[in-house]
Amino acid sequence: MCATNAIATSIDHGNREPNPAGAPAPEGIIPVAVPCFRGREWEYLKQCLDTNWVSSAGPFVERFEQVMAEYTGTAHAVAVSSGTAALHTALMVAGIKPDDEVLVSDFTFIAPANAIRHAGAWPVFIDASADTWQMDPDLVYRFLSENCVRQGNRTINRQTGRTVSAIIPVHILGHPVDMDPIMDLAAQYDLIIIEDAAESLGATYGSRQVGSMGKFGCFSFNGNKLITSGGGGMLVTDDLHLARKARHITSQAKMAALDFRHDEVGYNYRLTNIQAALGLAQLEQVDEFLAAKRAIAAVYTLALGDVPGISTMPRAPWADSTWWLYTILVDPKKYGHTNLQLMQMLKAEGISTQARWQPLHETEAHKGAQAVVNGVSKDLHLRALTLPCSVNLKTEQAYRISKLIRKFAK
Ligand SMILES: Cc1ncc(COP(=O)(O)O)c(C=O)c1O
Repeated sequence: MCATNAIATSIDHGNREPNPAGAPAPEGIIPVAVPCFRGREWEYLKQCLDTNWVSSAGPFVERFEQVMAEYTGTAHAVAVSSGTAALHTALMVAGIKPDDEVLVSDFTFIAPANAIRHAGAWPVFIDASADTWQMDPDLVYRFLSENCVRQGNRTINRQTGRTVSAIIPVHILGHPVDMDPIMDLAAQYDLIIIEDAAESLGATYGSRQVGSMGKFGCFSFNGNKLITSGGGGMLVTDDLHLARKARHITSQAKMAALDFRHDEVGYNYRLTNIQAALGLAQLEQVDEFLAAKRAIAAVYTLALGDVPGISTMPRAPWADSTWWLYTILVDPKKYGHTNLQLMQMLKAEGISTQARWQPLHETEAHKGAQAVVNGVSKDLHLRALTLPCSVNLKTEQAYRISKLIRKFAK
């Protein structure tokens, strides 16, 4: 069953959106991205309840980890409570120290930048390439070669005097970052790579799965993601020692199963067996979900390709995108409306859309952070509009939405 119905509620949500992506949409409204449960979800959840394995350990946690490791082509997977927890854990376990600096994509959901601050380090935002919308490797090169000096095997930011210790390339919207040049630079400047693959499970860079190229790959199973566990995350790595450290620190740094001794300050970042049961049932359907996302993207790309003022979502020749959130760019001069005006017009037709992120270097949250900018993130923020693309979206619906977008063009 795929989610469509509204939940009526009088609860005060404060600043929490009552209907974020991933939550059920009101009746008759086409949502942006909602989960789809048509595999063994009920069966696995029932097993949890029947056996009393509901909490932060259990057979589904281990099975989910094992299947994720196999799927991503990595040696170890550690299940955690969210994608943000996966990123925070990766930073801590990788040895990123307070006051270090970490290069991170400027055009992304805010979680990786927050995780950097949770670790006590500082983000340096790297703008996007206009061709892929992903972290621009040329800007990474520019920052490292022009702003940094080498001291022994450390890379020092000349302006701040801080050590630059890692890069978090964020594979946004289902498309991979151009990793080869970034990995070459990371090797040259002794930087650890932590891939944020939260939005791109299943995407490949050449023949490699996203999340499998850096020291760590981090995934999210939030409700709007390709697969969901209700909430949750996973950290993958080929390094057994680091995987063990991650497991330890995310379990309150408890030293032995039967004894309450702790050797450092840990975190309760564990995924529950209930969440893992849901996540595993979803992961079993990942190929089906990917095929659905790719079919929807093909419709939009075909049907919108020649609409004046609309640019369809890019895909680099070296990338196999999952098209997780299908996003267009609106040129108001040629189209006659802005992205937000188009959003309102589609809303009046019962179609939900989303604008995309403010460049992180412009957010209040990360005010004053360093950034290497070329204007692309800002342009994407001002012009992007994400269209409905749930796994269960019907081809006719994608054509109807495309026709309306064509009709509204002035
Ligand atoms: C790029 C990116 N990184 C990290 C996260 C954080 O994942 P979570 O919401 O599971 O903490 C998300 C989304 O939620 C994301 O889109």
